[in-house]
Amino acid sequence: MSKAPMRVAVTGAAGQIGYSLLFRIASGEMLGKDQPVILQLLDLPQAQKAVKGVMMELEDCAFPLLAGMIATDDPNVAFKDADVCLLVGARPRGPGMERADLLTANGAIFTVQGKAIAENAKEDVRVLVVGNPCNTNAYIARAAAIKVGRTNPNNYHGMLRLDHNRALSQLAAKSGREVSSLKKMVVWGNHSPSMYADYRFCESNGDSVKALINDHAWNNDVFLPTVGKRGAAIIEARGLSSAASAANAAIDHVRDWVLGSSDWVTMGVPSDGSYGIPEGVVFGFPCECKDGQFKIIQGLEIDEYSQGKIAITLKELEDERAAVADMLK
Ligand code: NAD
Ligand code: LMR
Repeated sequence: MSKAPMRVAVTGAAGQIGYSLLFRIASGEMLGKDQPVILQLLDLPQAQKAVKGVMMELEDCAFPLLAGMIATDDPNVAFKDADVCLLVGARPRGPGMERADLLTANGAIFTVQGKAIAENAKEDVRVLVVGNPCNTNAYIARAAAIKVGRTNPNNYHGMLRLDHNRALSQLAAKSGREVSSLKKMVVWGNHSPSMYADYRFCESNGDSVKALINDHAWNNDVFLPTVGKRGAAIIEARGLSSAASAANAAIDHVRDWVLGSSDWVTMGVPSDGSYGIPEGVVFGFPCECKDGQFKIIQGLEIDEYSQGKIAITLKELEDERAAVADMLK
């Protein structure tokens, strides 16, 4: 017997990431090749015509797993009974802006959506915030949801997977190893240039990648800035922010969370106090996923250099948290 469909709400459905994301969800790449899905698409009133166009194209793919779709500009309708919510809809930054510049413009969206999710979605809904600044937007949505109750506060995540994937590609190129051989990558902190991409634990076919590379100057002066500023480099090159790679990372995050992963994955999750990160801050941590649950990997040694890097990215998140405090009263 076929499985009951899962309801996936996607905001910003008419945008660039939406266009790279929806077809892959409908083809089963996110929730499994045996899992029917119903797409619940949210966008602004002026984008409804474009959403309808995307739905026409989805229809034209005749995806066997696509069990239904709706388009709406009402968050209460979009999040009704949702199993997964992908919060993509927000204004992207342009050249010369930092992601934090979007804080007030986009923050207001996430108070409304966090409340609507908590009031309407399934109690065990999984929420992934992609819209920037994604850690703090996830923090805002979670805070709004906590006021309502009902949903699981641990299930409001920010997307650090793009940074994780970017780091893996840079390491593969430097070490000469296949990207698929690299395991145990971590990106700590904020999805911003302050993030700390940490390959101290990374292995390739049993070899230490740090020992293979053995170049601290490259780590500090090339690798970290390249990964941290990759979003800006793409905006500079394309004139638009990353879209297909962002959609790919969102699929990776949710797929591993729901279906499990054999490797460590970086997820922006509300801190439980691990590694001295204050509770509730949505922070990039190394996680393991099994049986539909994620768990922060414990007990990793944090050396002095890493402690310094983690403190910088935490300070930025704490400043962002202070900047939105009024929104959450
Ligand atoms: P886009 O401008 O192409 O699309 C955004 C869509 O969101 C538009 O259709 C717009 O109408 C819609 N929208 C705006 N406000 C909305 C609201 N309140 N409710 C529902 N929909 C709304 O942008 P994009 O390139 O798809 O990027 C979307 C977001 O994702 C941006 O904030 C961008 O910075 C962010 N992003 C994050 C990552 C990451 O790694 N976390 C990577 C890439 C992009
Ligand atoms: C990215 O990392 O590509 C996105 O967050 C878009 C941006 O503004 O950098």
